[in-house]
Amino acid sequence: MSTESLFKPFQYKNLQLKNRIVMAPMTRAQSDNGVPTQQIADYYARRAASEVGLILSEGTVINRPASKNMQNIPDFYGTEALNGWKNVIDAVHKNGGKMGPQIWHVGDTRNSPDYPLVDMEKASTMTLEDIQDTIAQFAASAKSAKDLGFDVLEIHGAHGYLIDQFFWDVTNTRTDEYGGKTLKERTRFAVDIVKAIRAAVGEDFTIVIRLSQWKQQDYSTKLANTPEEMENWLLPLKEAGVDIFHCSQRRFWEPEFEGSDLNFAGWAKKITGQPTITVGSVGLQEDVMGAFAGKGTEKADLTELTRRLERGDFDLVAVGRAILQDPEWVKKVKEGKTEDLLDFSAESMAILY
Ligand SMILES: Cc1cc2nc3c(=O)[nH]c(=O)nc-3n(C[C@H](O)[C@H](O)[C@H](O)COP(=O)(O)O)c2cc1C
Repeated sequence: MSTESLFKPFQYKNLQLKNRIVMAPMTRAQSDNGVPTQQIADYYARRAASEVGLILSEGTVINRPASKNMQNIPDFYGTEALNGWKNVIDAVHKNGGKMGPQIWHVGDTRNSPDYPLVDMEKASTMTLEDIQDTIAQFAASAKSAKDLGFDVLEIHGAHGYLIDQFFWDVTNTRTDEYGGKTLKERTRFAVDIVKAIRAAVGEDFTIVIRLSQWKQQDYSTKLANTPEEMENWLLPLKEAGVDIFHCSQRRFWEPEFEGSDLNFAGWAKKITGQPTITVGSVGLQEDVMGAFAGKGTEKADLTELTRRLERGDFDLVAVGRAILQDPEWVKKVKEGKTEDLLDFSAESMAILY
């Protein structure tokens, strides 16, 4: 099996990557009170040193009262947390890597052991003032990412968190300009965030957005049921300033619509003409949901992945658990040491190595 296609350089705007492999954003919740530690810097630097082309950070939150659902999720605002992130990006650069933070707001998934909501505090509909401030805080975090020296940034618009809650008709029942019957209307919140971020970071800085059809609240739901619906979702985001679409699936080989074997990243690229990132069970047999139920899974080969990459379906490939498990995953793949690749064990999720 040739993995050559994974090791071709990638260039877009200001972003130059030595290969096509992206570390997927993975929450570790080990940043003390929101401040990334030296251990976190070492964890990312280790992956940079082992040739991960682009690292996307764990979700890191904006300056809004309910933006995170675990205390030790890192903040992306405030002097202390931003100093912590400066230490991270400097360590990654020193080890030859490139990195972007994944900027996040958890929306009404806030209720958690760290932040139990009493009835009075139950998630309520955002006022227009809340919305305007949230947009402004996304832009402020984006500006900080650029100022700290990060190479890109990713907006977390997936998996049933705040931005995705606006996309989805089940959670967005607003009757004002941020709601609406069509997906295009419900994309307005994300569009306004992208525009504000673009204004804050300038034309050359690469903006990635992560999107998913699936929600943690419902794995089988779809926002776009046809390519036309997908156009109404993605084209406004492209127009607003998105550069790269990061298309989250649980299994990258699954076709998005009947009648074609293209996956989500394949359709997003075809529709927008922009670079896309695929993700979902790369190098592993079973999907990520098992991991949260404490299940490991065996390694898998990359034949189907490289077939699609060579065909031009997508430009970049994000890898989650395989790189969480093994900092040297990319190096081993590059050197053809397939026998040294590791199976995934769920215990590794608690270890920051
Ligand atoms: C421990 C863990 C934490 C995760 N945290 C995030 C996150 O913060 N943001 C996000 O967009 N996805 C998150 N994900 C999903 C991954 O980015 C990825 O999409 C998923 O694991 C599928 O890729 P894989 O099959 O290669 O692991 C997380 C996954 C894991 C295993």
